[in-house]
Amino acid sequence: MKATFTLLCIYFYALLSSGRTSSDDDRRWLSSLIELVELDYEDHCEQRATATWSELTGSSKGLSLKLVSFGDTAMNKLRFATDYDCGTSTNCTLRELHNSLAKQHDEATLRRMKESWEKKLPNLNDYLVQILPLLRNASKENSYSTVEEYWNSLGEYEGAILKAREIWDRVKPLYEKLHKYVALRLKGTDAVGKPLPVYLLRSLTGDDWSNVIESLLPKHADIYQKVYANLQLKDLGGLNAFHEASKLLEDLNMPAVEPYTWDKSIFNSSCPPVLVDWCKPNKLRVVSCKDVTISNYIDAHDVVMKIKYKEIAALHSNNTYTLREANRYSAIYEAIPGFASLLALNPHALNRSGLYPIERFNYNPNYHRLVLQLITALRDLPRQVLIRSFKTCVMLNFFMAADEWRLQYLKETVMSSGGVSGWSDFRRNFSLLETSDADILGHSYIVHNKPLIGKFMGLILKYQIYQSFAEELISDESDLIKHISENNDRLLFTMSQGYGSNWPEMVSDLLAKRENGLEYTGLTDYYRLLDEYLDNQLDPSVEITDSDYVEPIITEPEVVDNEIPVKSETLDEKPKTHEDINENVIDTGDEGIVKAGGETSTVGVLEIKNPVASGDQGKGEINVKEASYNAYWWIGVGVAVAIVVLLIAIITRKRQNHKKQLDRQRRETHA
Ligand SMILES: *[C@@H]1O[C@H](CO)[C@@H](O)[C@H](O)[C@H]1NC(C)=O
Ligand SMILES: *[C@@H]1O[C@H](CO)[C@@H](O)[C@H](O)[C@H]1NC(C)=O
Ligand SMILES: *[C@@H]1O[C@H](CO)[C@@H](O)[C@H](O)[C@H]1NC(C)=O
Ligand SMILES: *[C@@H]1O[C@H](CO)[C@@H](O)[C@H](O)[C@H]1NC(C)=O
Ligand SMILES: *[C@@H]1O[C@H](CO)[C@@H](O)[C@H](O)[C@H]1NC(C)=O
Ligand SMILES: *[C@@H]1O[C@H](CO)[C@@H](O)[C@H](O)[C@H]1NC(C)=O
Ligand SMILES: *[C@@H]1O[C@H](CO)[C@@H](O)[C@H](O)[C@H]1NC(C)=O
Repeated sequence: MKATFTLLCIYFYALLSSGRTSSDDDRRWLSSLIELVELDYEDHCEQRATATWSELTGSSKGLSLKLVSFGDTAMNKLRFATDYDCGTSTNCTLRELHNSLAKQHDEATLRRMKESWEKKLPNLNDYLVQILPLLRNASKENSYSTVEEYWNSLGEYEGAILKAREIWDRVKPLYEKLHKYVALRLKGTDAVGKPLPVYLLRSLTGDDWSNVIESLLPKHADIYQKVYANLQLKDLGGLNAFHEASKLLEDLNMPAVEPYTWDKSIFNSSCPPVLVDWCKPNKLRVVSCKDVTISNYIDAHDVVMKIKYKEIAALHSNNTYTLREANRYSAIYEAIPGFASLLALNPHALNRSGLYPIERFNYNPNYHRLVLQLITALRDLPRQVLIRSFKTCVMLNFFMAADEWRLQYLKETVMSSGGVSGWSDFRRNFSLLETSDADILGHSYIVHNKPLIGKFMGLILKYQIYQSFAEELISDESDLIKHISENNDRLLFTMSQGYGSNWPEMVSDLLAKRENGLEYTGLTDYYRLLDEYLDNQLDPSVEITDSDYVEPIITEPEVVDNEIPVKSETLDEKPKTHEDINENVIDTGDEGIVKAGGETSTVGVLEIKNPVASGDQGKGEINVKEASYNAYWWIGVGVAVAIVVLLIAIITRKRQNHKKQLDRQRRETHA
C-alpha cells in the first residue's frame, strides 16, 4: 500500500524529529511527503465516492466497482431488495416498506413487515467471527490495550466512554418517562414499564418513534396539524425541502448551498438522505427521497448544514485532504448540523418558512412548544439510547472476546444459544425494547466496525449549542434565528477549522465559553416542558386540566387545510392516498385529539433511521482488495493520519493569521 508506506515514513520522521526543532529543510521534506499522501487521498476518495454513488443510485456496476466488503454487501442488500413485505399481496422496496410501516396499524402485519427486513440482514456468526475481531487487531496495531481506549482516542475525547455513561445516567429518566408514556398510549396501563416490540413503534430498529406521534399528541396540537398540512401544501419534500433548509442558512447569515450540489443530486431514492463527497471543493451530492414528512424536512436541515460545513472547511483548509477527510469522529461535525435540525422547528423558522405563523405563539406558547419538543424527542431520544446501547453492547462483546479462548467460547457457546451475547437481551434490559438479535447488524456503523462515539457526543453537544444561543436571548419570545445570524462567528470559526484541531479544544469557543466539555444539561433543559408534561400524564393523581388554554383569536388569512391539492404522484409507486389528508380536518385548537385510526392518519413520517445509510460520512471506506482487510487497513490508517494531522498543525499554525483574515473578509462580505 503506497499510502501506508508514506504514512509510515511520516511516522518515523515524527519519531526522529521529535527531539529537535524542525528546520526549513525538514518542513520542505515533510510538505512533499504530505503532498504524496494528499495524492493518495484524492485518488482513493475519487474511486470510493464514484463507487458509493453508483451503488447508492442502483447502478449495476456500483458493487462491482468495489471489491466488496462485508459491510458494503450487507447494506447494499438491504437497500436494493425488492421483496419486502409491505402488508399487501405484492412485494415491495425498502422505501415502500418505510412508507407502509408509517401507516400500518395492524400488529400482526407490522410484525410480518419487520420480519421481512430481518431476513435481509447479514449472518450474525460471520460478523462475530470475521468482522468484530478485526477491531481487536486494529487496537493492538495501534498500541492500545483495549478497544475502549482505542475508540476513546478516535473519538478524541479522554474518558469518552465514561463520560457517555455519566451523561446517560442523567438522560435516562427522560427516556424512561417517554417510553412509559408511549406504552400507555399505545397499549394501556398494563404495558407501562414493560418492553415494547419495536414494530409496535412502527420502526425497524426502534431508533425513531416518529411514526407513532399521532397517538401521543397532547390535546391542543394544532401546530402539528398545521405544520404537517403546510408541508404537504407547499410540497416541501425532496429538493424543495433542501431549498427551504438552504434558506434557513441564509437567515443565519451564512451563504446558501451552491446550486451545483443540487443539480447532480437524486431525490427519487430512499430516505434518510446520504451525502457523498468526492473530497473536491464543489463536488458533493445527495441521495434522498421525495416524500413529504416532518422528519424528512428536519433531516434536510441536517444535511444542508453538513454540506455547508464541508464547504467552509474546504475553503479554509486550502484543500488539504488530510485535514478535511481524515477518518475521525468529531462530535462537533455531528453537532452543528444537528443544531440546524433543531432550528428547523424553531417558532421563528417555522414562521419564515410559512409553516406556522408566529402570531399564533401569542396564544398558548407552551402548548405549541410542548408539541415541537415531542416531535424532536421521538427522533432524538430513541436514537441516543440505540447508539448508547450499541456502544455498550459491542464493548461487552468485545471484552468477552478478549483472547482466543474466549473468542472460541463466544463462537461455540454464546452464539449457538442466540447471538451477540443476546443483543435482544441487552436491548430489552437497556432500552426496554423487544428486538431480534440480528437487528444490531442493521446499522452501517456496526457492520463497518466504525465507532459511534462521535454520533453520541454530537447528539448531546447540539443541545448545548442550542442552549448557548438560547440563553443569550432577552426573552423566550425573541427571534433566535436573528440572534444567531448576528452572532454566528463562533459557528463559522469552528466550521472553518475543519478537522484541523481536536474537537474538544473547540468546544469552549463554540459554546461562548459557557462549558468546555459535554454536559447533559443542554438536553434536559431543552425538554423541560415535555418532562413536566410526561410527569403529569404518568401520575394518575394529577388531574389534567387545560384551564390555562386560551382560544386563539387569529385574523390572518387561514390556510384552507382541507383543500390541499393532490400533487402529482407519477413517480410514487405507492401513492400516499390523499384521503389521508382530506379526511383529517385540521382543527384550530379546541378539539385537538387526533384519531389514530388507520384511515385518518396524517402521519406519513418515515424517519426510520435507514439502515442502509452507509455513506453519510461517505469516506470511511476505501476500495481494497480484501473484504475484511478493508476495515482493518482503514482503522490502522486512522491513527497514522492523526499523526500527520499533528504535524500539519505545525504548518497550519503559520497559516492561522491568513485564515483569520479570510474569516474576517468573509464575514464582512456577508454582513
Ligand atoms: C415475494 O418474495 C418472495 C420471496 O421473499 C417470493 O417467494 C414471492 O414469490 C414474491 N411474491 C411476489 C408477488 O412477487
Ligand atoms: C488478527 O489477530 C489474530 C491474532 O491476534 C490473527 O490470528 C489474525 O490473523 C489477525 N487478523 C488480521 C486480518 O490480521
Ligand atoms: C431517478 O431520477 C434520475 C434522474 O434524476 C433518473 O435517471 C432515474 O431513472 C430515476 N430513478 C427512478 C427509480 O425513478
Ligand atoms: C495553498 O496552497 C497553494 C499551493 O499548494 C499555496 O501556493 C498557497 O499559498 C496556499 N494557501 C494558503 C492559505 O496556505
Ligand atoms: C414571519 O414571516 C413573515 C413572512 O414569512 C415575515 O414577513 C415576518 O417578518 C415574520 N415575522 C417574524 C416575527 O419573524
Ligand atoms: C438482562 O436482565 C436479565 C434479568 O435481570 C439478566 O439475567 C440478563 O443477564 C441481563 N442481560 C444483559 C445482557 O444485561
Ligand atoms: C474545563 O473546565 C474545568 C473547570 O471549569 C476544568 O477543571 C477542566 O480542566 C477544563 N477542561 C478542559 C478540557 O479544559
